[in-house]
Amino acid sequence: MTCRFPLTFTIQKRIRKMKELTAKQNEFVEELISRMTLEEKIGQLNQASVSIVGGFDVSFPELIEMNADGRISNEEFQRILSNADRDYHEEEIRKGMVGSMMVSDPEDCNRLQKVAVEESRLGIPLIFGLDVIHGFRSVYPIAIAEAGAFDTDLFARTAAMAARESRTQGVAWHFAPMLDIARDARWGRVSEGPGEDRYLASAFAAAKVHGLQDDHSSTENYVAACMKHYMGYGACESGRDYNTTSIAPHLVYNHYLAPFAAGAKAGAKTVMASFNDLNGVPCTANSWTLRKILKGDLGFEGFVVSDANAIREVIVHGYAEDEKDAGIKSVNAGLDMDMGTEIYLHNLAAAVEEGTVKMEVIDDAVRRILSVKVWLGLFDHPYTEEAAMHRYDVLPAEHLALAEEAAVKSAVLLKNGTDGTPVLPLSKDAKVSLLGTLADDRENIIGAWAMNWREEDCVTIRAGMEEIFPSLQYFKGFGPVTAADELDAARKDIDDAVAYGDVIVAALGEPGEMSGEASSRASIIMPGSQRQLLGELMEKARAAGKKVVLLAMNGRPLDLSWETEHVDAILEGWQLGIRMGSAVAKLLGGDAAPEGRLASTFPACVGQCPIYYSHPNTGRPGSRSKFTSRYLDAPYEPLYPFGYGLTYTQFEYSDASVTEKADSFDVSVKVMNTGSRSAVETVQLYMQDVSASLVRPVRELKGFAKTSPAPGSCETVTISLAKKDMGFYDNEGTYLLEDGKFRFYIGANSRDAALAAEINVKF
Ligand code: NOJ
Repeated sequence: MTCRFPLTFTIQKRIRKMKELTAKQNEFVEELISRMTLEEKIGQLNQASVSIVGGFDVSFPELIEMNADGRISNEEFQRILSNADRDYHEEEIRKGMVGSMMVSDPEDCNRLQKVAVEESRLGIPLIFGLDVIHGFRSVYPIAIAEAGAFDTDLFARTAAMAARESRTQGVAWHFAPMLDIARDARWGRVSEGPGEDRYLASAFAAAKVHGLQDDHSSTENYVAACMKHYMGYGACESGRDYNTTSIAPHLVYNHYLAPFAAGAKAGAKTVMASFNDLNGVPCTANSWTLRKILKGDLGFEGFVVSDANAIREVIVHGYAEDEKDAGIKSVNAGLDMDMGTEIYLHNLAAAVEEGTVKMEVIDDAVRRILSVKVWLGLFDHPYTEEAAMHRYDVLPAEHLALAEEAAVKSAVLLKNGTDGTPVLPLSKDAKVSLLGTLADDRENIIGAWAMNWREEDCVTIRAGMEEIFPSLQYFKGFGPVTAADELDAARKDIDDAVAYGDVIVAALGEPGEMSGEASSRASIIMPGSQRQLLGELMEKARAAGKKVVLLAMNGRPLDLSWETEHVDAILEGWQLGIRMGSAVAKLLGGDAAPEGRLASTFPACVGQCPIYYSHPNTGRPGSRSKFTSRYLDAPYEPLYPFGYGLTYTQFEYSDASVTEKADSFDVSVKVMNTGSRSAVETVQLYMQDVSASLVRPVRELKGFAKTSPAPGSCETVTISLAKKDMGFYDNEGTYLLEDGKFRFYIGANSRDAALAAEINVKF
């Protein structure tokens, strides 16, 4: 038997009203709309940012190009910018032609807000939005790292803290969480999102939305979330940013949509459409993803903003003839707010007059935007109070503690010793040589998309480790951008580091700007001459009988196959934010035990990309035989699987069992701490639908739980899987629960989770 359910979560209403608003607030919105001119309505759909103007011999976009291609240095670019004039669009705000701005300085926000509230005809406040991806002033681990903490409570707490910090600066809208399922390490934006898996990404989405939005004890404590980039952006062909995407509908419904659906269910107020075209239609103007799925099936009542300049790019995609056409197609498809092109501003009034855009479409968009402004309390509290502005001039201890906790929980121990003898944790009395430019640098612990951090809040790796290891000596050595004329000095440092230390900790990896937007790589090994120099270090260390620990710092899964073979231990440190140094020091010194897991598979080589654990089996799964799905010149298996991570003790799994209940299956397993230290283990439940009307993944994560049995003791962990969650969507978006054989696996990661039972299930 097969049970079928439509994707529709809520019944569509003709005039949508935001559920969370009181009847009075909804009335207020309707009354306001009834007083607005068409121009004022369209003004609400326009987001502006501060324009840099004047004084250049070339246009501003060309100036940016010149900086990007090296014709002018960063210093020169910054100098020009600091002397340039800024246009804050005050005149347009006064005329009611701007609904939102991208500004983060509280004084600027208040000044512009005053123009909107006190000098425009209707006094509608602006909503200030910003990219607050992994923290505002307190920067936390990049999302791909934090997701690996498998800790929804943490996800929510870091989001809530970021909301409080930004709201005191006037920013009431975060362009976050970024929810792109990403399976290709070449794509620079894997760093910004929760990894490759729908279940973990959905848990991350819901927790982030709750954290950002739910504390209404004061308007200073919450912001509107913006789930992005909707949708499929992470599936860009060949891992190249902005590239085209082709995703079968069932994969859209089952995987790429899942975190957005979870976030919508958690109440997310806004969504950002993605840059990519999906199956031939740019997501900016895609009525299937926006009107049908998001606003229709999911019943999403918030508003959708474009990505930057994206309405104009609809023309470049080849989906619209000119700006007006692009504007009409976008708004009709359900794109409510224009980020940065002014195409709505200049074209929609004419389109309404000639009937190519219906007034109801404009009203619906305005209603959504105004409703979010009401929900944010902006009409009653449009300004940032002086006291709030300075509340975090010095970051309170609890903010720093949370940043450190998140960093500790997100680092992943990939390797610890070669012959069963662990290298980590290091003795605090050990003579430690710390090597690498990344170890003494604030910027590269932060990661892409963090604008409001301050130097004084940061603990570098060096500073953190000097606190814990009194005999530590630092050697600059080398890093991702060591120039040819620095190699001699680097080699001398290698010699000195080996001569001094009992153990050498090498902090190597990627600089922050190597991931994030427009930062795809065709190679995913450590950049520059790091691998070669690490090789030289290894030879010297081996000859001297010294151990080498790699502290990897990167924004994407790297190909660490060479490193795995050669170094003694690897701690995957990602970019863990302002307290990375103290967190890493605690982990290396054993004051904390690693508990982070990989939210993304680590490939054994770049040729394996895209790679992910929840793939279909194929008719010829990879094996040693020739005519199977494999490579001639590389393994088909990843280097480290999704969910993987070691710690300073060992856990043994036994007695797995599955109990069927009326509406669920309880999967239990005994977890024994066979080592001598305490640590946290993340137990993972996977499921396989063995035969179905569409082929299903070899394994799908269906739940996880934390346990920490004391050394020598055992705990039983039970994870419950609701029967209603065992189905899948077909190509029409119908959810199917099909009777048949299912396998349940439970264990430490997607590869090692062992078969608990195979059961014939009837729904
Ligand atoms: C472009 C990026 O794709 C998006 O993530 C970001 O929110 C906007 N620009 C605004 O900065």
